[in-house]
Amino acid sequence: MHIHVYERIVLGLTVAILLFALGALGGSVFGSHIHLPGPVGRVDPRTLRQTPPFDSPGVREVRPGQYEAVMIAQTWAFVPAELRVPTGATVTFRVASADVTHGFIIERTDANLTLIPGHVAETTATFREPGTYLILCHEYCGIGHQTMYGRVVVQ
Ligand code: CUA
Repeated sequence: MHIHVYERIVLGLTVAILLFALGALGGSVFGSHIHLPGPVGRVDPRTLRQTPPFDSPGVREVRPGQYEAVMIAQTWAFVPAELRVPTGATVTFRVASADVTHGFIIERTDANLTLIPGHVAETTATFREPGTYLILCHEYCGIGHQTMYGRVVVQ
């Protein structure tokens, strides 16, 4: 079978690009250990408020400078609505939804979660600069979606 030279070039480029993309994917997963965030646990949204640690949401110090914040997302608020930590604190957020899918993004940090009902999501952020950091819901979750926010006050 005769394959035109231009077709050979295009086929060769296609295979080269495919191999490059697979190599980049393999390098990021196995070399740099980059993974999609997965749920760290499961919880029944109907009994979320009675299930530890979500029965007492809030922030607590686990080691000097290291904090754990337990939060509930619900239509249309975060519980608690405000967290206070000192400047330089590293905070691990454990967040779960009590109803529908919500988003969780903290401005000026890398914290960005999708809160799927039934899943416990976790992310960590360090607050080096004092100030107020807004926590926003970035998944449309109903008529009050745009009013759903919280804040981290760093002082
Ligand atoms: Cu919660 Cu949008």
